[in-house]
Amino acid sequence: MKAIAVAPGAGVPEVVERPVPEPSPGEALVRICRVGVDGTDYEVIEGSHGGVPDGDDRLVLGHEAVGIVEDANGTPLEEGQYVVPTVRRPPPGVETNEYFERGEPDMAPEGEYVERGIVGAHGFMAEYVTSPADCLVPIPTELAPLGFLVEPISITEKAIEHARATRSAFDWRPESALVLGTGSLGLLTAAMFTETLEYDRVYCLGRKDRPHPTIDIVERLGATYIDSRETLVSEIATAYEPMDVVYEATGYAKHAFESIDALAPNGVAALLGVPGDWEFEVEGGRLHRELVLHNKSLVGSVNSNRRHFEAAIDTLSALPDWALAEIVSGVYGLSELDRAFPEATAPVATPGPGSTAGSDDDTTIKTAVEFEDI
Ligand code: NAP
Ligand code: BGC
Ligand code: ZN
Repeated sequence: MKAIAVAPGAGVPEVVERPVPEPSPGEALVRICRVGVDGTDYEVIEGSHGGVPDGDDRLVLGHEAVGIVEDANGTPLEEGQYVVPTVRRPPPGVETNEYFERGEPDMAPEGEYVERGIVGAHGFMAEYVTSPADCLVPIPTELAPLGFLVEPISITEKAIEHARATRSAFDWRPESALVLGTGSLGLLTAAMFTETLEYDRVYCLGRKDRPHPTIDIVERLGATYIDSRETLVSEIATAYEPMDVVYEATGYAKHAFESIDALAPNGVAALLGVPGDWEFEVEGGRLHRELVLHNKSLVGSVNSNRRHFEAAIDTLSALPDWALAEIVSGVYGLSELDRAFPEATAPVATPGPGSTAGSDDDTTIKTAVEFEDI
């Protein structure tokens, strides 16, 4: 069968031949239809995040998938049913651990999990994959064409759950919310903020010139676009308004600290980005004081569990069709890898961590690779 793999650091993914996997007891065989591409895939392709399984020289990519159960293999799944796989699995040679037993693999520390398509385990960009049946979440047929969005939406379901949990000890009524980043995670989150979470006032920070499809999406959602080249995150509270919620999806490390100033008293910032190493100065004393004296919270959040996937399926069904159609800028077959991964094939020098320059590919928002038409 065909799969899409990368030797980390190689800079470009390639089509490889792999044997069709055999499901073990408790596993089902899934025929993959579509797999989304996100910022993490580019980090894996560049070699700044993730890693190949032990003993292998390439990693099969893909962690945002939707497929069809081909062989239920005696599990409770139904053959022909569309499913979305979760990402984390126990490390090789370990059947389970306390985090997986509790259904909370997203809370497992490093070393207690692998992530399919990201670190230590092959991903879903292949014609067939096997997976434990309890890691395959059924999805209604009508949602299957965009089923690859369930995983990234589940990331925000988890992050917002944790953000709210930090504010659960008092009567918190968030009205204003700021999303940092107009990549696929940022835009999906902006759509959730306006359409399902229904914050009264939503802002979204990017670094694109008008006209741009991402700005159009932000504004059609009824949110306000803020250009990071004109307004620093630390200036947003005075230039616009203090935010009850900040959701960082840029991976730009200064934003973690600047978010403290963007927050309103009693607000919470969820940090999602995975930056590389970068040393810079912060006003440590003032920021520490700001967090304490205004009851502000910062919460990091990674991955998601089956419960978040189930919530994400409901959210996907509630998001407006036009927004999803605009966010998914292209679905490409195996013969069009350069279009599925436009940033990986572009021969550009990687900007340093402090760069405020955007990417060269300027209109792609989210792509997916198609193995089988839905
Ligand atoms: P992405 O498509 O690369 O989006 C990142 C966006 O942030 C891009 O649009 C980029 O702009 C923008 N950006 C970067 N620095 C900026 C700055 N200084 N000012 C304004 N905008 C800036 O990635 P993604 O898939 O949306 O994911 C976003 C981040 O979350 C990544 O770091 C990813 O690794 C991380 N992530 C984490 C989790 C988790 O579980 N914690 C899950 C998914 C993703 P340009 O387009 O101009 O470069
Ligand atoms: C994935 C998560 C994963 C995280 C860190 C994200 O892109 O969506 O499932 O935990 O990267 O590797
Ligand atoms: Zn991801």
